[in-house]
Amino acid sequence: MSFSWGVATSAYQIEGGGRLPSIWDTFTHDGDHIVDDSTGDVACDHVNRYAEDVALMAELGVTAYRFSISWPRVERDGTGFYDRLVDALLGRGIDPVATLFHWDLPQVLQDDGGWQRRDTAQRFAEYADRMGRALGDRVRLWLTLNEPVVHLVYGHMWGIHAPGLHLFDDPFPVAHHQLLGHGLAVAALRGHTASPIGIANSYSPAVAVGPDGTPESATDADRAAALAYDALHNRLFTDPILLGRYPDLTAFAGHERLAGLIRDGDLDAIAAPIDALGVNYYNPFGAGAPSAGNPLPYDMRLLAGYPLTYFGWPVVPGALRDLLVELRERYGAALPPIHVTENGCAYDDRLGPDGSCDDADRVSYLEAHVAAVREAVAAGVDVRGYFVWSLLDNFEWAEGFTKRFGLVHVDFATQRRTPKASYKWYRDQIARVSWDG
Ligand code: BGC
Repeated sequence: MSFSWGVATSAYQIEGGGRLPSIWDTFTHDGDHIVDDSTGDVACDHVNRYAEDVALMAELGVTAYRFSISWPRVERDGTGFYDRLVDALLGRGIDPVATLFHWDLPQVLQDDGGWQRRDTAQRFAEYADRMGRALGDRVRLWLTLNEPVVHLVYGHMWGIHAPGLHLFDDPFPVAHHQLLGHGLAVAALRGHTASPIGIANSYSPAVAVGPDGTPESATDADRAAALAYDALHNRLFTDPILLGRYPDLTAFAGHERLAGLIRDGDLDAIAAPIDALGVNYYNPFGAGAPSAGNPLPYDMRLLAGYPLTYFGWPVVPGALRDLLVELRERYGAALPPIHVTENGCAYDDRLGPDGSCDDADRVSYLEAHVAAVREAVAAGVDVRGYFVWSLLDNFEWAEGFTKRFGLVHVDFATQRRTPKASYKWYRDQIARVSWDG
């Protein structure tokens, strides 16, 4: 594969109905979890409109499309939808990049304990085997899990994502079983494909800061907190895969039970060689000493001195360059080629009186982050692709439809798609720049 210019989406956030219930169906229909009380029942109706969406991608000129497969859809209807999607992409010269799990676990598996239960790793490998058999000849890059740390921390600790659990005292079964599921899925896919296989992790560099959000006021306790944040958010799902060992998690409750979870052969299975590391990057976080009552060993603090997106996330493009360089320093020869599998931003995009959407803030964000990737490449980091999150405005998890990340505006009442200024910018960028060879 030459350098990929892509866009990324996920199943629950865009597809709409026609699947067995997932934990996100349960969560969105079950109380006050979503700010605008919305659900992904219809979302962007992509399952019916995928041909239009593939045409939008072809017009954009992307060379790759990262989508996720809805495990509960496959359980109900088989692999047909993804078969058609992959063929539609290949028909337009777009490489299909498939993620097997983007947080929408079939509810029936959650009823049996979900990722707290070891058997879920085995079930995930069986599902990977099925998808490999169906699409292994055509998918150009496979990613097993999307951001397992976000699924762990937001879904199983803070409870603000599905399945809404609060396992602060015993979080590591969910981590270990996701890691094991990843490793077993890599092995299952290998039998069906010659394409590269990897995982899409989220990385949020941790900066030790004092209560005023600046590094200058950080104390030793703040620095210890930043190390703990880094171990959980940036190392927990990377060290075992690339180095075959867990990072130091002693700052976290429940760490003493981790050893008892690891059976003979698990670490070897988890460290099965991968060919690609997916890096999802949005922003760094400030970390400081935990306040009283915080069940985690760090407080998250806003980094002072940066512009903020509509989500309130600081815009720090240089941190993406530093992250890519640091990953290489951290993992050395164990680091496979990197694909930036998500990068993007939410702004309060509105259609103007003439029907257009001038998202100038997104254009500057993307321009600066693409430049940061280019700097990392110039520094010798092996980066093979860049994917904007996201093609379409979509269901943004706990934020419902209130946060728009798309290059294409979606009117959720009519499903009308309107390319924004950032879509045109990205189209020109792709047409202008070739990093091949
Ligand atoms: C996730 C996406 C999400 C995006 C913006 C990532 O954490 O993979 O599903 O929409 O960030 O929040």
